[in-house]
Amino acid sequence: MSTNILSSLKPIVSLAKRRGFIYPGSELYGGFANTYSYGPYGSALKNTLRSLWWKTFVEKRADIVGLDGPILLHPRAWQASGHLEGFNDALIDCKACKSRFRADHLIEQATKNSAEGKTLEEMTQIIQESISCPVCGKKEFTEARHFNLMFQTQMSKTKDSAETKAYLRPETAQAIFLDYKNVVDTTRVKIPFGIAQIGKAFRNEITPGNFIFRTVEFEQMEIEYFIKEDAWETTFSDWMEDMLLWCKTIGLSEKRLAIKEHDAKELSHYSKKTVDITYQFPFGVGELYGLAYRGDFDLSSHQTHAKEKLQYRDPKTGEVFLPHVIEPTFGLDRTLLALLCDSYEEERLENGETRVVLHFKPHIAPVHAAIFPLMKKEPLVNAAKKLFHSMQSVCRVEYDETGAIGKRYRRQDELGTPYCITIDFDSLEDQTVTVRERDSMKQERIPMNKLPSHIKALISSEGSDLHSL
Ligand code: GAP
Repeated sequence: MSTNILSSLKPIVSLAKRRGFIYPGSELYGGFANTYSYGPYGSALKNTLRSLWWKTFVEKRADIVGLDGPILLHPRAWQASGHLEGFNDALIDCKACKSRFRADHLIEQATKNSAEGKTLEEMTQIIQESISCPVCGKKEFTEARHFNLMFQTQMSKTKDSAETKAYLRPETAQAIFLDYKNVVDTTRVKIPFGIAQIGKAFRNEITPGNFIFRTVEFEQMEIEYFIKEDAWETTFSDWMEDMLLWCKTIGLSEKRLAIKEHDAKELSHYSKKTVDITYQFPFGVGELYGLAYRGDFDLSSHQTHAKEKLQYRDPKTGEVFLPHVIEPTFGLDRTLLALLCDSYEEERLENGETRVVLHFKPHIAPVHAAIFPLMKKEPLVNAAKKLFHSMQSVCRVEYDETGAIGKRYRRQDELGTPYCITIDFDSLEDQTVTVRERDSMKQERIPMNKLPSHIKALISSEGSDLHSL
């Protein structure tokens, strides 16, 4: 299989809309910038990834438990976590055309040099002296200033609190730290152990873009893994291996993945060491996932701000200490974008036509098998519908009777469906069906009573890497 290296996101955006993966948000009202809606196939793909991740990192591991915390945390939690003070980007405006930019991105795009670690004053100087506005071409910039990325909202006042300001969480991690003690006190977890959570996060990004790569509302799959300080290096490298194995399991090409360690200036306020797993997107290399050693920053700070002891008592040795944390974090939307880019191919056929295919691994595909009657005619339709209903308990199936069979195959190729099953007149006589494989387009006759086990084996064999995690 030869997969195109895409030079632009355009074909992906177009396919995603055309085939019901991803729609622009609030399109009915002319769109709402940088929000997206996941359509029937996009939401199926997301659900598959979510449940595969949960199975891999929670259900199949004795050392990790799950949590579903709130989006709204006590405002003081964001003070303790450092987000109120330090979760900022540098913003700069063009005075002439009023366009707004992230100062570091503006410098990086114009000079091709990193702006990581530069102060507001340094960035203002570089931009005002040497950069023209990419929109209007003028050189009339304001000073760069900090902009907090958290979305604010209002809570109605409660009896015991005069505070009305609340924030939508910019990371799922903090909900885990707030419930760390509850989990220790109410379950059998013992260090080392992890708490995992999947959920939405919100960031008022100054320059969102590149489709679903950077949006204001997105989903994270995060683990806070609690350890004794001296175990941090081994735990860190074990997690890097597990994260890379996950990438392989879902079918991301190794050649487009890389590892990039943050230098001291790039580190977030909470991190002692961060390594990104990057992916070669059509618009350039971008962060896909992150692995951070957060030390005891969060527990220590919440302990101080909440005035509650968060130490752990080793049940064997009686030793009391504040755990350190390794944090593997996975963006769900970026996973989906990487998978779409990785699996997309415009394949030239021998007859000169081009077919668009998504080469998803079968266990990831939103639809495992599509079931067609050869023609929209009885008794084919009835037999195909019966087969469709019987296969629903085996895998994710779709029924389609509309249009020429060739067009139905092409539609399923664009959805990434690995198998198409056709019932024809011979099927009614000999109880066999045609199974057509997406990538090779080869067809074989399979007895109908063997179909469930046949398809099941094809789908699960592709997910077998998982078992070694
Ligand atoms: N708790 C650590 C944390 O939030 P992060 O690197 O800021 O770390 C984690 O975010 C992951 O969330 C990223 O690796 C990326 O996959 C995803 N992510 C971050 N910001 C995003 C955005 N604006 N849109 C989509 N995904 C985003």
